[in-house]
Amino acid sequence: MPQTPDTTAITAGRDDSAALSPTLWPNTVWETSGLHEARKRATGFRADSFYARFGNPTVTQFESAIAELEGAESALAFGSGMGAISTVILSLCSQGSHIVAQNNLYGATLSFLQGPCKRFGIDVTFVDPATPGSFAAAVIPGKTMLVIAETPSNPLLGITNLAEIGAIKGPFTVVDSTLATPLGQRPLDYGVDIVLHSATKGICGHNDALIGVIAGEKDLIDSIWSYSVLHGASPSPHDALNALRGLRTLSVRLERQTNSALEIARNLQSHPKVASVSYPFLESHSQHSLAKEQMRHGGSMVAVELHGDFNTCDSFVSSLTLAHTATSFGGPETLVCHPATSTQAGLGDEILASMGVTQGLLRFSIGLEATEDLLADINRALNAI
Ligand SMILES: Cc1ncc(COP(=O)(O)O)c(C=O)c1O
Repeated sequence: MPQTPDTTAITAGRDDSAALSPTLWPNTVWETSGLHEARKRATGFRADSFYARFGNPTVTQFESAIAELEGAESALAFGSGMGAISTVILSLCSQGSHIVAQNNLYGATLSFLQGPCKRFGIDVTFVDPATPGSFAAAVIPGKTMLVIAETPSNPLLGITNLAEIGAIKGPFTVVDSTLATPLGQRPLDYGVDIVLHSATKGICGHNDALIGVIAGEKDLIDSIWSYSVLHGASPSPHDALNALRGLRTLSVRLERQTNSALEIARNLQSHPKVASVSYPFLESHSQHSLAKEQMRHGGSMVAVELHGDFNTCDSFVSSLTLAHTATSFGGPETLVCHPATSTQAGLGDEILASMGVTQGLLRFSIGLEATEDLLADINRALNAI
């Protein structure tokens, strides 16, 4: 019987020392035995005991754990999720390249595609991921270098069909799987080329590391590494240590968070102050069956639209006592944010409207508090508005 990913999260990414917790190598530089050895490390691939921008043993431990969990030959970590996204794009695209991307990506990813990419002469076509065949139809043979998807999407928790992305041949396909975590889905199993995570979120899980990671076939990851050494969005070994430590408890954290998220989503659905609730494992989610098919859990985020506007959201959020107003997710504390003025701020009203991000929308990251306490707090604050 194959080992479950929950167990792999405990067994993967160990070095050959007897230490049970990850070993921290804070070094930026290593001595070499002579010039021949120095040349070998400087000109070869991914030396992790040479200079920290090339690699670091603590980071390597984290990367090998992610590779094993994602069923990949190789993984590469970065200084943040955005470091991963920008490096992947700039390593694989040049002036005149074309990208197909879904239209409801995380705000900073969208901003990167609309701003710097445009400035560098990289064209982007945005597609509706819920329309079957939309990605493949937008691919321009010989010109499209990348197809970028994010599932579940941030903040509205839309689901993109992984099999559809994996079936696209020609351009490299990338799936941002941050909201699912490596224990929630495995895009590479569907033929996707690169899976990407902001490990800042659920993987690390304690709001104390900023780190991103990608995984895929060795040759592809090596070629992205060759560019990443010049780009320089290198991860801190301290953050890699925290991310690997976080990975060890991800399964039990997700069990609590996803059970609470589903119960809270179910409960809020029938509240008179709530216009709509989006949660992938909620039967009312428009892509519920696809979510059930490709995900092991529904995630720890719940999108809730209130009847009202920014001020309604502001007074609701102000009267919550357990949930903190903050924009990240995946940590122990329940967080709530107003996407239109935080994660998606600056995208403009037209784009926000096309994404379905209204002024009444709030995004909850469900933490590790007891479900009944969270429900009591949320219902009390809702009744007060
Ligand atoms: C889906 C998704 N991808 C990427 C990122 C960027 O990650 P980071 O903040 O680690 O750069 C985020 C951040 O919230 C995100 O939600």
